[in-house]
Amino acid sequence: MNICCIGAGYVGGPTMAMIAKKATFCKVTVVDINQARIDAWNSAELPVYEPGLEEVVRECRGKNLFFSTDVDQAIRDADIIFVSVNTPTKTYGVGAGRAADLRYLELCARRIAEVAQGDKIIVEKSTLPVRTAESLKRVLHSNSNGYRFEVLSNPEFLAEGTAISDLEAPDRVLIGGDDTPSGQAAVETLVKVYNAWVPRERILTTNLWSSELTKLVSNALLAQRISSVNSISALCEATGADIDEVAFAAGKDTRIGPKFLKASVGFGGSCFQKDILNLVYLCEYYGLKEVAEYWESVVKINDWQKDRFVRSMIRTMFNTISGKKIAVLGFAFKKDTNDTRESAAIRVCASLLAEQAEVAVYDPQVTEKGIRDDLVYAGVPESQLARLSVVDDPYAALDQAHALAVLTEWDEFKSFDYDRIFTGMKKPAFAFDGRNILDRAKLREIGFEVHAIGKP
Ligand code: UDX
Ligand code: ADP
Repeated sequence: MNICCIGAGYVGGPTMAMIAKKATFCKVTVVDINQARIDAWNSAELPVYEPGLEEVVRECRGKNLFFSTDVDQAIRDADIIFVSVNTPTKTYGVGAGRAADLRYLELCARRIAEVAQGDKIIVEKSTLPVRTAESLKRVLHSNSNGYRFEVLSNPEFLAEGTAISDLEAPDRVLIGGDDTPSGQAAVETLVKVYNAWVPRERILTTNLWSSELTKLVSNALLAQRISSVNSISALCEATGADIDEVAFAAGKDTRIGPKFLKASVGFGGSCFQKDILNLVYLCEYYGLKEVAEYWESVVKINDWQKDRFVRSMIRTMFNTISGKKIAVLGFAFKKDTNDTRESAAIRVCASLLAEQAEVAVYDPQVTEKGIRDDLVYAGVPESQLARLSVVDDPYAALDQAHALAVLTEWDEFKSFDYDRIFTGMKKPAFAFDGRNILDRAKLREIGFEVHAIGKP
């Protein structure tokens, strides 16, 4: 079976690598218009950092896994085409700031219809608003040259940082298709691919719209838990309760469960905010104002939590951070990824720079260019960016700093030499832990003033 995936990003790359590894009867070609990205996939320095990914790519690349920029050829050869292009939140026009920008997807659909020389199964992999398959179908069928295109929805549930283990043993695989004989046949074809390693009872099949909506709903429900716990973290700080104790005890109720109850400076990532805003847009479209407001508040609390973190830093540091050096530890939206999309660090750093602080960022995987681009995109003016430095050595970031702020829970931050750090810092030395990973007792013993999320 020939599989092609359009879009060699955080979703397309790892997913196709796993299909190539497990479904050895498939030949998988991942294509992208971005030459640099394809070159990176074909090199020793993969464009996506993900534990375990390199091994899988090394094992399959050149055997049944290929990366190429020849989109048309890959489309022509494929029986199944996964579409895994970016669908960012619209920044212009109707639905700006909420709706998904589907222009890349539509371009793909047009391209497929134009160059295909046979029937194809088209699989939506990108996160999409409900009923996108409808538009996809129309574009495909209006330009089909007589070929049949079956559209399936197969949302990706992997989390970055754990992509390889999530793909290897998914809780479930969801495949949505049309309730017609040809639709069901297409669903069965895709089921066969996943069934090469995923037990059949974990492969759920639904109609197209259920599958599309499930992706938004799963992410909205997960993000809602974080916003709920983050809102309670403020109450903990006001009352002297400890958020980790509260979340642990509440999570012991098996109906609630322990996962996604970790208080933090705020959730990030390419999915949560985008998907909730899609859901909000969808609700508004269907006239469900209250439902839209309800879900929008999940995103609002998230922004509030980031701002609350910065306000607490400023207040603690005698109401001024102007000219003070602040070491920001971690810029990725979570550990074990080099992805920074919607990372809380962007808004936090932008606010610190606006307060005229000298910000020194250290992240083990994110490049300086990535950090600068994110801040420029977030609207930080050049004059403020002059006060930003990005360093390879965490101790350099901390040298002569007034404060450190942990924004990503990288494991290495837990094993820093805090005696050494304290010696190099200005006094009083402040530690702001946006991830609750530092050993607060030890830091206080050394002489740090420590603030964590939802902690006394
Ligand atoms: C998420 C979904 O988990 C995944 O199923 C979907 O396919 C894509 O979106 P991802 O964005 O990669 O995955 O990471 P996730 O682990 O869900 O974390 C999202 C954000 O929430 C991160 O910034 C993380 O640090 C934060 N988070 C997570 C918390 O603040 N507290 C928690 O308890 C869990
Ligand atoms: P995700 O996290 O969803 O994988 P990314 O932005 O990492 O998102 O990846 C999407 C990829 O899709 C990008 O590398 C982009 O260049 C690619 N892409 C977008 N439009 C097209 C297209 N028309 N043809 C081929 N690749 C495309």
